[in-house]
Amino acid sequence: MKRKVPTKLRKEVYNISTEWLEGLLQADDNAPPMKPMYSVLTNKAGKKNTVLIRSIKEKEIDPVLEFLKQTLDAEYDYYDIVGARVFAELLAIKRKRMKDEYFFLGLNNGKLVGIANGRLMDDEVNISLHTLTFERQVNAGAALFYSKCWYCFEVCGQDEFWATFESYNGWVLAGLRMALPSYPWPDMQHELGGAKIFYLTRDLWESTIKGEYLKQVSRSFFKPASKELIKKNAKLIIPKKLEI
Ligand SMILES: CC(C)(COP(=O)(O)OP(=O)(O)OC[C@H]1O[C@@H](n2cnc3c(N)ncnc32)[C@H](O)[C@@H]1OP(=O)(O)O)[C@@H](O)C(=O)NCCC(=O)NCCS
Repeated sequence: MKRKVPTKLRKEVYNISTEWLEGLLQADDNAPPMKPMYSVLTNKAGKKNTVLIRSIKEKEIDPVLEFLKQTLDAEYDYYDIVGARVFAELLAIKRKRMKDEYFFLGLNNGKLVGIANGRLMDDEVNISLHTLTFERQVNAGAALFYSKCWYCFEVCGQDEFWATFESYNGWVLAGLRMALPSYPWPDMQHELGGAKIFYLTRDLWESTIKGEYLKQVSRSFFKPASKELIKKNAKLIIPKKLEI
């Protein structure tokens, strides 16, 4: 809003480089690195697939954004709203408009099986944003969701992990099966649409979830990946079509 200047001035117009503005508007990017991990998933035909979970690389952002555009028209199992939000959150990494975001890909021999992302709110709280799978009914969701909890407690050393759920599948996968309690609502709201916060504490993580959840839900485990496995998944293969 313009106001009358209350003094004499040496100059009346200032040219400000957008780099100074960027300094004010750019979000922090200090999320600690996650070392690549893996899990073994079984498909409906009983075939076992090793899925590597690792952070997205900068050069992979554009192709994944392009692929995610297909979810915008997927009026099915809430893929459209989750896809649209994940698209925006990935673009936010490129445009540096989200604080301390992490963005993991689930890969089977390089093929994109799913995505899990979130961000660090502060030293104590990790915000779970989304889990999205492109191969259904293989329990990819469980492994990807678990990777975010692992990252929160084992890598970032935080105390709480705050999730919320847009879909019934998401709630069954984690809210129900992790038996997550929720904070009073609307007193406390998750940053995703002001919905309920379902939280996982370090106590619950240590006592139950860390050891049992993945075994119970996907009959699998979560371990550091070997150099060979990382190499095998180095080249990202994006599915031609969204098949959900
Ligand atoms: C939510 C989501 C990540 C869950 O992933 P997921 O647990 O891997 O789930 P899917 O919905 O593909 O499959 C789950 C079903 O597959 C079954 N399943 C898993 N592994 C199986 C196997 N090897 N053989 C047969 N069935 C299997 C599960 O038992 C479950 O069946 P049920 O619904 O009858 O109980 C995924 O559905 C998704 O991306 N949805 C769209 C976006 C979304 O909603 N994200 C979460 C926002 S809160």
